[in-house]
Amino acid sequence: MAEYNQPVTGIIRRRFSCRSYIPKPIEPELKERLSNFLAGSPTGPLGTGVRFELVSAGENDSTVLKGLGTYGFIKGARGFIVGAVEKLENHNMEDYGYLMERAVLFATDIGLGTCWLGGTFNKSGFARKISLKENEMLPAVVAVGYVADKRRWFDSFIRRRAGSDSRLPWTRLFFDRTFSTGLPVEVTDAFATPLEMVRLGPSASNRQPWRIVRDNKQWHFYLQRTSGYADRNKTFFKLADMQRIDMGIAMCHFDLTVREMGMSGGWIFSEQHIDTPDTLTEYIVTWRQR
Ligand SMILES: Cc1cc2nc3c(=O)[nH]c(=O)nc-3n(C[C@H](O)[C@H](O)[C@H](O)COP(=O)(O)O)c2cc1C
Repeated sequence: MAEYNQPVTGIIRRRFSCRSYIPKPIEPELKERLSNFLAGSPTGPLGTGVRFELVSAGENDSTVLKGLGTYGFIKGARGFIVGAVEKLENHNMEDYGYLMERAVLFATDIGLGTCWLGGTFNKSGFARKISLKENEMLPAVVAVGYVADKRRWFDSFIRRRAGSDSRLPWTRLFFDRTFSTGLPVEVTDAFATPLEMVRLGPSASNRQPWRIVRDNKQWHFYLQRTSGYADRNKTFFKLADMQRIDMGIAMCHFDLTVREMGMSGGWIFSEQHIDTPDTLTEYIVTWRQR
């Protein structure tokens, strides 16, 4: 992709949630490149625009994060990417996930570490920095900075607790026509790579709620919610719908990968009569190959 210097599949493989940074400000040249990238952010694939801003963090911002519903202490981050999106747009969370992840991959490409942080930022210092309007929300931010060489034991602890290094097997994520037939790697030929890139994506608490059903040239994306997760987040932490953000991230990885592979296609709404495994599973969107 022209937007990145390196192949997007390599960038996706290298990305990880970095929770320890060298506490030095991002150098002006990189800051400018990232800011320009954010300023040039297109409208999301489902029609919502997001206003992004790269903000410098004060010494205390990492500590403040703990009070905002985020988990996993972030150490030393001196920059944050924040975004403002309209509250009432139908697909705002998916587009937020898609567009923010696009920026995460750019930051990774230029050598910076990142970590998504879902929280209640609407009344935070971050909201003030982006001049959040009444009709907008700020559902998640991304910490960005120089990766500290030595990961603290705490990082490893959080990673183990969130099971960050593990991903669900293929046959639990990807399906052939119905949810009862798992799609093995061997039968997906050209699509093996885009699907694997979805699988490597970050997701809130590493819940990996993305499910994809192949149906000829159509790839139907479903969200299989984690039982109680949305309610708990909303009631106790006043969090936005994190799992819809996860879906946007999956769409981003899939889309950028198929484009890099030279395949053409696009996003449509084309819900089919496919029985879902449970009431927690809902249709989101379809990628159709042309
Ligand atoms: C929407 C979203 C919100 C997240 N919120 C947090 C958070 O509040 N605190 C945190 O430490 N990590 C957070 N993460 C990072 C996930 O825990 C991480 O992506 C997952 O454990 C997989 O690990 P990896 O990103 O290193 O592959 C979030 C990720 C996403 C996509």
